[in-house]
Amino acid sequence: MSRKILVTSALPYANGSIHLGHLVEYIQTDIWVRYHKMQGHTCHYVCADDTHGTPIMLKAEKDGITPEQLIARVHKEHTDDFREFLVEFDNYYSTNSEENRELSSKIYKALKADGKIAVRTIEQYYDPVKNMFLPDRFIKGECPKCHAKDQYGDSCEVCGSTYSPTELINPYSAVSGATPVRKETEHYFFKLSECADFLKQWTRSGSLQTEAANKMNEWLGEASDNKLSDWDISRDAPYFGFEIPDAPGKYFYVWLDAPIGYMASFKNLCARTGLDFDEYWNKGSKTELYHFIGKDILYFHALFWPATLEYSGYRTPTQVFAHGFLTVNGEKMSKSRGTFITARSYLEHVKNPEYLRYYYAAKLNGTMEDIDLNLEDFVARVNSDLVGKYINIASRTAGFITKLFDGKVRAAGSNSVIDAMRNGAKVVADAYENRDFGRALREIMSLADQANGFVASAAPWEMAKDPTKSDHLYIVCSEALEMFRLLTLYLKPVLPKLADSIERFLNIAPLKWADVGQGLANDHTILTYQHLITRIDLKQIEAMTEANKETMQATVPTAAAPVAAAQTNYIGIEDFAKVDLRIARIVDAAHVEGAEKLLQLTLDIGEEKPRNVFAGIKSAYDPASLKGRLTVMVANLAPRKMKFGLSEGMVLAASDERGGPFILSPDSGAEPGMKVK
Ligand code: MSP
Ligand code: ZN
Repeated sequence: MSRKILVTSALPYANGSIHLGHLVEYIQTDIWVRYHKMQGHTCHYVCADDTHGTPIMLKAEKDGITPEQLIARVHKEHTDDFREFLVEFDNYYSTNSEENRELSSKIYKALKADGKIAVRTIEQYYDPVKNMFLPDRFIKGECPKCHAKDQYGDSCEVCGSTYSPTELINPYSAVSGATPVRKETEHYFFKLSECADFLKQWTRSGSLQTEAANKMNEWLGEASDNKLSDWDISRDAPYFGFEIPDAPGKYFYVWLDAPIGYMASFKNLCARTGLDFDEYWNKGSKTELYHFIGKDILYFHALFWPATLEYSGYRTPTQVFAHGFLTVNGEKMSKSRGTFITARSYLEHVKNPEYLRYYYAAKLNGTMEDIDLNLEDFVARVNSDLVGKYINIASRTAGFITKLFDGKVRAAGSNSVIDAMRNGAKVVADAYENRDFGRALREIMSLADQANGFVASAAPWEMAKDPTKSDHLYIVCSEALEMFRLLTLYLKPVLPKLADSIERFLNIAPLKWADVGQGLANDHTILTYQHLITRIDLKQIEAMTEANKETMQATVPTAAAPVAAAQTNYIGIEDFAKVDLRIARIVDAAHVEGAEKLLQLTLDIGEEKPRNVFAGIKSAYDPASLKGRLTVMVANLAPRKMKFGLSEGMVLAASDERGGPFILSPDSGAEPGMKVK
């Protein structure tokens, strides 16, 4: 029976690049969608950029552009990245759209009419210099537990404790550095506390994975104690977002309109294609709705979102599929280890996106467990499975068909391997359906092993030497190509581009799941086999991690905290003498394309050629103001290859929580190249 399915991935924030962590989600969803399309179901995959909120507003301000300019630029980058990774959305839209404004306001009004909105006065931290209320992430200060400096308003990265911003010692605004003041303001709340019965029923109705349902049980509490608090859905101006109807100066919190962005993206698709929006979203809809998300945003999708839909008169999601987080070589992605890898950087170094799609698929099992990208294993796995097992089947047989049999195959009859392959269709399909892609690929690779065994024992390259074995050779090669066709069909959701080139080589229509039993016909002509895929070299991976390493040199050296500075940790004069400090003239200073913190400096220290140095001072200096100035640099620091080029030294600058970086200036009279000692 043909199903009608709407699928979403979480909407990536519009202030950063897509990285390999994000791709776990988008590749996973794309595979699932492609599988359903191959099954002949009506399936739509929509997504959008998540464009609202304080971080995006401030980032645009920092870059000297409007939020609209920022989100337009990022939209293009995200669209390019997804296209190149073969993530095929039916629509990739923006939450900053008219459709979203209308839907958000309609939903808000419906909630209000249902008595689910409350207005309350709360007290919040306010930045008196910047004249804005500060989200927790933008308040910093000393951790109340371990007294580490410069910790965020919600949690301490040093000791891991969580607290409220009011508990921070000596809080300061991360935006202006000012000491925040407490200020009263009116906020709008969605009365989630009144939705507990519905949410208990919904979270236990099978719409969540077991692990997720258990988590929700913890949050929701047992029947008697209701732990749900009302949800604050408004923010004060200045805020980049949608103004709340009838509440001037109040804006929807980004998480209110972000999931509505799923609907808005679909609505936009409907307008372009004539699909019926109501059929998919009205209460009682017979269509299926699935959200793929990371485990960090489960709370929003398993509580706020279904409640929002339920009480504004829409259908609720059929299922929410949460996945775990990506680790690289067993650890969190890290800039210093070079494992914080953007989609773009992968494409530059490894090039083939299908290798990553394959590896992720092999690791995914439909649960919330984290998945690890082990870079050595990645290389080994791709080379052995894709090149060694799969493509090998065609590369060892197709040439004979072309050379000896006029490019025509014989219809493959049944043999034990082909039968096993056709019978495997159900297991593979079920594994895809259940998002256990690892299981699907294990099954497919075990079928590929059987096909390789078949080719190896028949040894067509031996038969080709003996003209009396021509008939047998013809059968073996034709059957091997049928096996290859079946493997291609099964792998197609994961490797769509490779499948496309194989369909062209086999000279067949795009493979659908129903084609399992449709073998190549007698006398069907194939094209000449051409090299389909190359091995990855570990060197490409090493180049990629090397290029992504952000060294300490690239960032401003953080001044020691007062406590540490007071500690006596003497060095001898001979240690200090090892540092070759020189007066440098900044002959040129420029922005670095794609670098958030760096400026590129050209420094004259009296040498034949000026030095190239990357310095993490972009936040504090306009390049034009630096040209011609004298400063101090470390001249004998080992040159360091960075993502943006070679850095041949380091410029000194002062900073701590009171501000900075401030670069140094010598007294007048100093000349480039003079030694500082
Ligand atoms: N904008 C919100 C989602 C709004 S949905 C209405 C958001 N954006 S995000 O850019 O931070 O993340 C987008 C998706 O990528 C999320 O589902 C998130 O869990 C996922 N991932 C981001 N980093 C990830 C890893 N390192 N590993 C796996 N998934 C990760 O959240
Ligand atoms: Zn702490």
